[in-house]
Amino acid sequence: MSALISHVGIAVRDLDAAIEKYRALLGCEPVSVHDVPDQQVRAAFFDRANSRLDSGGRVELLQATSPDSPIARFIAKRGEGLHHICIYVDDLPETLARLKSSGRRLIDEVPRIGADGHRIAFVHPADTHGVLFELEER
Ligand code: CO
Repeated sequence: MSALISHVGIAVRDLDAAIEKYRALLGCEPVSVHDVPDQQVRAAFFDRANSRLDSGGRVELLQATSPDSPIARFIAKRGEGLHHICIYVDDLPETLARLKSSGRRLIDEVPRIGADGHRIAFVHPADTHGVLFELEER
């Protein structure tokens, strides 16, 4: 059985300071730190190397790189904290079409490329009881 959750995304003001804290909390190093120009964010992914667990359940820290970034707007409105939960889907265009035809509000109607190079799309939190969901194609 494969993992349901790819990662949780946490909005932070200062990525370097957050990495220090999460390194101690999670007991592992960030496996990648990179800019996602498309989203105007800098992202750090924590995962355990050589994990015997299926790939999943990672932690993504997100810092805005511009005042127009969705992360900057999120922090201005709600402060730092849990920003989104990312779940795996097998076929993203098919999943988006199914959600759309059942009347769900989508932030992305077509897939785009996410922080770690996979196809992703966001579902509007108004339709998921206040939680922003990211869908990631395996
Ligand atoms: Co994410």
